[in-house]
Amino acid sequence: MNWRPLLAFTGLVVPSVHAVIRFGCAQLVTQRFDPLVTPGQVSPHVHQIVGGNAFNITMDPSLDLPNLATCTTCRFKEDKSNYWTAVMYFKHPNGSFIRVPQIPNHYTGAYNGGMTVYYIQPPNFEPVTAFRPGFRMITGNPMLRNYDKIDPESPEAYSVSFRCWETTGFFDQDNMSPPGVGNYDTIHLPKKKCPAGIRANIFFPSCWDGVNLDSRDHKSHVAFMTGTVDSNRGLFFRNGTCPSTHPVRIPLLFYETYWDTRPFNDMWPTDGSQPFVLSMGDPTGYGHHGDYVFGWEGDSLQRAMDNCRDAFGDPSTCASQLTILSDAEINSCTQKPQINERVDGYLDKLPGCNPIQPGPASATMIANCDAVSTTGFSPSRTAAPAEVTAPPAVVTPAV
Ligand SMILES: *[C@@H]1O[C@H](CO)[C@@H](O)[C@H](O)[C@H]1NC(C)=O
Ligand SMILES: *[C@@H]1O[C@H](CO)[C@@H](O)[C@H](O)[C@H]1NC(C)=O
Ligand SMILES: *[C@@H]1O[C@H](CO)[C@@H](O)[C@H](O)[C@H]1NC(C)=O
Repeated sequence: MNWRPLLAFTGLVVPSVHAVIRFGCAQLVTQRFDPLVTPGQVSPHVHQIVGGNAFNITMDPSLDLPNLATCTTCRFKEDKSNYWTAVMYFKHPNGSFIRVPQIPNHYTGAYNGGMTVYYIQPPNFEPVTAFRPGFRMITGNPMLRNYDKIDPESPEAYSVSFRCWETTGFFDQDNMSPPGVGNYDTIHLPKKKCPAGIRANIFFPSCWDGVNLDSRDHKSHVAFMTGTVDSNRGLFFRNGTCPSTHPVRIPLLFYETYWDTRPFNDMWPTDGSQPFVLSMGDPTGYGHHGDYVFGWEGDSLQRAMDNCRDAFGDPSTCASQLTILSDAEINSCTQKPQINERVDGYLDKLPGCNPIQPGPASATMIANCDAVSTTGFSPSRTAAPAEVTAPPAVVTPAV
């Protein structure tokens, strides 16, 4: 994301005082865990997870994450939050699936997998209230397979999108627009080959009811700003108003995940149909989603929001407020998968046995299964054992 040249390209009046913190997070673990939606159970589909190592199959809101976690995969030591999304698989023309690697985004470092996280301030440094301990939320809907019922000018329509990169440069034409708008972004998975990969863009709502740390659907306690969205600015530069039901302006949380689809571009099916599928069996992309569990130490996030005022969000400009970790440090924080199942290498089925559900009807939940199992803890790139002997997914305690 690069907004300075945007001024020249679109003539937009982007506030000169716009601040974000933007940082890379290495991979913590990739497995079928979702402590928000399916606490205590194997999740129906695979997620890629970054952040503090207190991440677990169940995460009660009363847990003191900054003290439980001994490390984080994110750039700032104070941030023991967890961030996760669905993962992308490539469907080989022969029917097998293989996970698409994630790589670091522009100017975020050189770390393993992971994603880029942004906390975006309102324009003009209008005050923002940091999340409280125990706060969590989700955005997007894994069952969605079309946007027919979503107003194209609504914030929801801009909240999840994909950028089809032609080239890899930060200052290149295809990286000039704010996420979710412009000629290279779509709300569905790109239907053509993207020579330099695909970046998923996920925005969360930025208004809070001021009371509830969570809600039954993990969404109702937060809301998007009211009104329609300017199709040049998207949500990134939006200056809206919070609804009276959700009057507290929280930081605009935003994830970018860079899927390196390049190795698969010469393996497309001969009919030209796009071969990528999200882990819940979604070949459309409409069902992409993100989850967040707040876990910053003390008032560190509020301090960063009040004092870090770089428009690019370069972590070094926030060094007086927060402790910056090296790539080696964030790479060294990992968790062993606790599901006895392989998620990498060629697989006969998506983990969880999710069938491909192209819609346009909403997807239906299918019986959760163990796709391919290994005997060890670590994901293995060796051949899968025979399908017929695959036992049900089991959760083993952390070692
Ligand atoms: C995860 O939860 C299990 C069961 O409550 C517990 O034994 C384990 O220590 C937890 N792991 C982490 C990393 O907190
Ligand atoms: C499909 O092709 C991949 C790559 O060559 C291979 O590893 C996998 O076993 C194949 N799957 C089937 C079902 O033949
Ligand atoms: C944003 O909206 C607020 C309230 O409507 C207004 O006071 C402020 O000037 C606006 N900021 C920008 C940059 O447009």
